[in-house]
Amino acid sequence: MSLPFPILTADEAADLIQNGQTIGVGGFTAAASPKAVTPALANKAKREHEAGRPFKVGVMSGASTGKSCDGALAEAEAISFRTPYQGNPTLRKLFNEGKVNYFDMHLSLTPQAARYGFFGKMNWAIVEACDITTGGGIVLTSAVGNAYTYLKLAEKVIIELNAAQSKNLLGMHDIYEPRDPPFRREIPIFSVSDRIGSPICVVDPAKIAGIVLTDKPDEVAPFEPPTPETDQIGQNVADFFAADIKAGRIPASFLPLQSGVGNIANAVIGALGRSPDIPAFEMYTEVLQDSVLALVENGRCTFGSTCSLTVSQDMMKKLVADIGFYKKHLLLRPQEISNNPEVARRLGIISMNTAIEFDLAGSVNSTHIMGKTMMNGIGGSGDFTRAAYISVFSCPSVAKGGKISAVVPVAAHQDHSEHSVQVLVTEQGVADLRGKDAMQRAKIIIDNCVHPDYKELMRDYLKYVKTPTHQPFDAAKAFAFHREFADSGDMRNTDWGKYL
Ligand code: COA
Repeated sequence: MSLPFPILTADEAADLIQNGQTIGVGGFTAAASPKAVTPALANKAKREHEAGRPFKVGVMSGASTGKSCDGALAEAEAISFRTPYQGNPTLRKLFNEGKVNYFDMHLSLTPQAARYGFFGKMNWAIVEACDITTGGGIVLTSAVGNAYTYLKLAEKVIIELNAAQSKNLLGMHDIYEPRDPPFRREIPIFSVSDRIGSPICVVDPAKIAGIVLTDKPDEVAPFEPPTPETDQIGQNVADFFAADIKAGRIPASFLPLQSGVGNIANAVIGALGRSPDIPAFEMYTEVLQDSVLALVENGRCTFGSTCSLTVSQDMMKKLVADIGFYKKHLLLRPQEISNNPEVARRLGIISMNTAIEFDLAGSVNSTHIMGKTMMNGIGGSGDFTRAAYISVFSCPSVAKGGKISAVVPVAAHQDHSEHSVQVLVTEQGVADLRGKDAMQRAKIIIDNCVHPDYKELMRDYLKYVKTPTHQPFDAAKAFAFHREFADSGDMRNTDWGKYL
């Protein structure tokens, strides 16, 4: 089929993009992230910088992207502002050096904020497709992200038509965009597998500036194998759910699960999949990794609604080889829908996310190391946590070989307040905070989650708190762990007497 759109090289496409413009990229994580135009744009930026001219663009994405997008653009210092989430070490460094403006957002809110005009004009959408029709019908690939919204909003569109992504993905997507207030109605998803939209995105053909032909698989980084510690966290989560089902607090048929990304999330999913006490489950989530697809294959996960298939090349080949089976068990949705709090609350999802640190009140820091250094961003954790039937956060009780306690008197930055966090899990155990007051919470967290190296220190902190009080808060000592780490590099050296 010949297409009525110019076929461009990646360099020709990059040449269309000008200094100061804003681009919106499709995909979510490395899945479906641009792989050809953005490296060419990075090279253009380098050439411009060498010639003494400024060149930077604003980049809006779905979530993190692949190394050919954030990685290449960050190395070329070609990004002026970035939202809503990222995971690239070079870009992270630029945020923390104040060289790139980054605003961290709940992922479900990004598309509507873009539509509301909060970020100004979007000049370009760069979206990966596995197929395109002459009328502007676009079949997306391994993820949706904000592709549909950006295709609609951008003045001009560049499509990366990727031969490495199977055209048989047609039918895997469910593209739906709510109307904006005051015309918004309910999102009609009443069970995880409800299909409410279109399998394709349609874009005004007049906006398509060109098609760039590529043949590059997703750049999904492999995960580390589980450790005894992450396995123990996973087992603790599985045991907690099994006990809650037995006690009748979770329905016997179970509820849809949301799971974060990363090694801990993988270990938790693995433990749930293995547990004989956990029934087969559905997932309503933003990312599905290899671990979940293995559970889809063996029937432990009966349906997965997601925004992204962040899977290895081997797993993608397997999926494509048995695409008929996987289409019955998976749906790829825009992040405005995959992460929608209205739907999450209606379905009663159980959210499971990872913390950097949490405190004795039960508040969670997901984003800022020592309260100041941006890690990745809040991602979808807030979208799900606040709306969840039960919200769970887990992490190892210590970081950096024990020099840092992940449980601190007061978190140095708060992403999820005590009002949204119900269950905290470390390899030490589970703190079930439901129905507990502030002082009870503090005691349960110390008893069940804190590493033995820090238990006495934490109990002593409580002794210093002047009573009667509601919150166990001491203004002088609240950040003593963080101050001690800054001073000596080891929180275990904390001497409460030093902080008066
Ligand atoms: N203080 C300092 N460093 C800490 C720390 C703490 N309290 N806790 C963890 N870290 C460091 C780890 O040592 C590790 O460092 P390294 O990269 O130098 O090895 C790094 O942070 C990542 O920690 P890790 O234990 O490997 O967990 P992870 O890869 O699962 O990442 C988050 C944890 C919180 C950073 C990650 O889950 C995240 O970005 N969450 C926010 C977004 C989100 O929740 N999305 C969910 C919806 S999908």
